[in-house]
Amino acid sequence: MQVSRAVAAVAGAAAVLCLFVLPADAETPSAKPSPVPITQTLGQLGDRAGIFVGTAVDMTALDNEPTYRARVASEFTSVTPENVMKWQQVGPARGVLDFAAADELVSFAQANHQRVRGHTLVWHNQLPSWLTSGVADGSITPDQLRDILRQHILDEVGHFKGKVAQWDVVNEALNEDGTFRSTIWLQQLGPGYIADAFTWAHQADPGAKLFYNDFNLESVGAKSDAALKLVQDLRSQGVHVDGIGIQGHLGAQFPAPGTIQENLKRMSDAGFLTEITEGDVRIVLPTDATNLEAQAEGYRVLLDACLLTRRCGGLTVWGFTGLHSWVPGVFNGQGAAGVLDANFNAKPAYNALRTDLVLAARSRDDD
Ligand code: XIL
Repeated sequence: MQVSRAVAAVAGAAAVLCLFVLPADAETPSAKPSPVPITQTLGQLGDRAGIFVGTAVDMTALDNEPTYRARVASEFTSVTPENVMKWQQVGPARGVLDFAAADELVSFAQANHQRVRGHTLVWHNQLPSWLTSGVADGSITPDQLRDILRQHILDEVGHFKGKVAQWDVVNEALNEDGTFRSTIWLQQLGPGYIADAFTWAHQADPGAKLFYNDFNLESVGAKSDAALKLVQDLRSQGVHVDGIGIQGHLGAQFPAPGTIQENLKRMSDAGFLTEITEGDVRIVLPTDATNLEAQAEGYRVLLDACLLTRRCGGLTVWGFTGLHSWVPGVFNGQGAAGVLDANFNAKPAYNALRTDLVLAARSRDDD
């Protein structure tokens, strides 16, 4: 892909260009550049660079906060429901389907010409209590559970057929050491539930791209080895699987993943799509100039790995302001994980993403 080589060539320049790009009339290096502010959004720049730039969407905020809603519409070319396509939301009681909130997001996306990533069909979290308690008290047998899972996937994927471009079919099924996570799915159905889930999803919408999605898949290691082996094994069994979703939940207190590009490349070389599906870089509060820079570096590493990898479709951030983020509720003392601050102002991370997107787009234009 042309973008890859071109980005590599200009990657070093990214650090110094910061918020500005040289205008076309800066003919020689000695000409004094009059900086031109980057006015395009992440999504618009992503279009030019050939990738989607998306966000997870908090439906409560979308409904109640006009600034948030306007920014989701203007800044991004892809949306993922943060919660409203999860089983707990779409299946509140046994035999009851509720796609109202998810339908609202899909309509919003259509009105704003955005792609929709569906998240997620099979996970061990945010399951409806009728299901977990039924399994726990034995009133739902393994055979019944398999039928329930099949129906859930057929119902949900079928409902959104043609409207959801990609599904995270199975989410977080692996442990850090690459073994299968012990969930109700593994315990009740055995590891075959993964192949079944992909098969049913493909049956319900043959046009949707189907992903295995997980965290801590950024670097080469036991877990990403296992994810790649999993999708390869599925494919060799004739199961339809398109790609691997690398969640991309990072912390500014840790080194950015050094082997992410190599990792995405091997997935791509093996014939799989990749996406950064839930990128964020949390900070141990309070923020300061140093940790904001480290955060920017984390975001840049995620973006650049995608830009540099054939068949990487895009970067989705898991919320774009610190106010609308899962981080403070889960990681004690941490937050400010988004690229914008609580007042929707750009942080260094936002400018870093824009700079690298501009460089990728310019390189592409030049090819
Ligand atoms: C999180 C949401 O952001 C929270 O609002 C919710 O309470 C819990 O789930 N990995 C995933 C996402 O795949 O679905 C999770 O989203 C974050 C971690």
